[in-house]
Amino acid sequence: MCGIVGYIGPKEAYPILMKGLHRLEYRGYDSAGVALMDQEIKLYKQKGKVSELEAFVKGKDVKGTVGIAHTRWATHGEPSQINAHPHFSETKTLAIIHNGIIENYSVIREELKRRGYHFSSDTDTEVLVHLIEDIKFNEKVPLEEAVRIALTQVVGAYAIVIMSKLSPNKLIAARKGSPLVVGIGNEEFFIASDATPIVEYTKDVVYLDDEEIAIVERDKELSIIDIRKETKTPYVQKLEMSLSELEKGGYDHFMLKEIFEQPRAIKDSMRGRLNAPLGIVKLGGIIDYEQKLAKAKRILITACGTSWHAGLVGEYLFEDLARIPVEVEYASEFRYRNPVIYEDDVVLVISQSGETADSLAAIDIAKRNGATILGICNVVGSSIPRQTHAGVYTHAGPEIGVASTKAFTAQVTILTLMALRAAQLRNTISTTRFNQLINELDIIPEKIEAILRQNDKIKKIAAKFKDSRNFLYLGRGYNFPVALEGALKLKEISYIHAEGYPAAEMKHGPIALIDKEMPIVFIATRRGMYEKVITNIQEVKARNGVIIAIATKGDKEVAKMVDYLIEIPDADEVLVPLLAVIPLQLLSYYIAVMLKRNVDQPRNLAKSVTVE
Ligand code: G6P
Repeated sequence: MCGIVGYIGPKEAYPILMKGLHRLEYRGYDSAGVALMDQEIKLYKQKGKVSELEAFVKGKDVKGTVGIAHTRWATHGEPSQINAHPHFSETKTLAIIHNGIIENYSVIREELKRRGYHFSSDTDTEVLVHLIEDIKFNEKVPLEEAVRIALTQVVGAYAIVIMSKLSPNKLIAARKGSPLVVGIGNEEFFIASDATPIVEYTKDVVYLDDEEIAIVERDKELSIIDIRKETKTPYVQKLEMSLSELEKGGYDHFMLKEIFEQPRAIKDSMRGRLNAPLGIVKLGGIIDYEQKLAKAKRILITACGTSWHAGLVGEYLFEDLARIPVEVEYASEFRYRNPVIYEDDVVLVISQSGETADSLAAIDIAKRNGATILGICNVVGSSIPRQTHAGVYTHAGPEIGVASTKAFTAQVTILTLMALRAAQLRNTISTTRFNQLINELDIIPEKIEAILRQNDKIKKIAAKFKDSRNFLYLGRGYNFPVALEGALKLKEISYIHAEGYPAAEMKHGPIALIDKEMPIVFIATRRGMYEKVITNIQEVKARNGVIIAIATKGDKEVAKMVDYLIEIPDADEVLVPLLAVIPLQLLSYYIAVMLKRNVDQPRNLAKSVTVE
């Protein structure tokens, strides 16, 4: 969702800010804007894409070495030029960009109106900038102090950057609940909502903590205070990400690149954690908590979207291998339904971005109830890893395509390692089975390579089905979450209606939909509940359903029964999700491309959902 970029230094700010906004496009947005400091603050904004903003600004004055820029994903007020950020204060002395939501904005707005302030937009952000101005004038305090006082009055989430005509060599940034990173370059500073706009300029970054305010001033060191006025020492970290990870590298879309990166991403997620020849699984990030995990009475997995599907695979893994009862919860439901949480529960939060608002709120509740909270996260330094007791990074590398692919398989890989380690500690797995599974896991990347080689075949199948209006995805056991994920991938990027179901549950409703117009994708791999799935395939055939099957290589029985077949290498059922999801990702991708959809930035979706 919304993206923030700020710059102060010796260079012209505009090109840096625009490049930064392009880097943040993947997060999802519907308008964009920029403010530059010269003698005056020059402010330009536009509904639509960053390129539309650039076209609008062309030929206008973009001089200035200090600036802020923003991409907005509408929450309060429709996507429009007026609601786009930056927003001016009443006297146009201040300009602000803001991610997050100010929950008590209407009360403050009424009060400010009484004091003579005018509002031109429907946003909660304009309330904040007027409030800061009001405090600054009344209290006669420096800008950072006015920001601090204002922030003590607002309820909600924010990442903000503010510039002032009266302090032209300074930017003030602050965060609570929405991420913010300050990059420290050579006599220059960068501010952004994630590190992607910064990485090409500097690797030295400081991630702000909640309720911290950064004062970024030309020719001065970065200084940080919190909203209680305490001085903080900036903790400088080195970025691990590289610029090439943020570019398409010859692929047509980030999503395709990320699908093809999966063998590498899975290897990276296992590196240093799995030593198959020596029979060792070691998860350094949770080593101090692995006894807690092994002794947990229950594991509560909570997440959103694709990460929730990975959580469902986790449920099968932990129950099957480690015999620990597991519940998997949508974070958005978990946070509001007064859940029963015990001190000996382990709450496992899974998130690609590490910023999902509902998942963060779920952590809060679990903490208040005294549970141990572990995380599985992809973005290093993001909010979730910093709120959990311990966790494991997936190390899949930046995921730019909105539809999650490599992050999912990396999450499932980590869950597999965690469940195996818990099983080992609990003695619920024999050494022979443990070794067999880790040896198979070790060669999963090569098996994925083999599936990726069927790219052209999958593309041809996609061409046959691109005009279908509805899809049904069916699987059982470990493949049930894969069916859900396959359906989600298709609807996210192609806008075709798709549902995932446990194959047997089909009889309780979806069977009514089956006719020759409706493709049914079966995940019918040989291990696990094979015979049962074969029966379900027969039930669909008997009703003239058109079947695309993901089956184990060499399976003649399934081949005879279905209309289209995609073969995947044989694997233990525990590991099949890592393979079976790959052709489903490719199928969705090619259907979306053939329908000319915006694959990497599908309509209405955001990569990182920082509002509830
Ligand atoms: C958004 C993204 C999905 C993602 C979900 C959860 O909806 O578009 O791809 O699965 O958020 O995000 P997280 O970063 O917590 O995994």
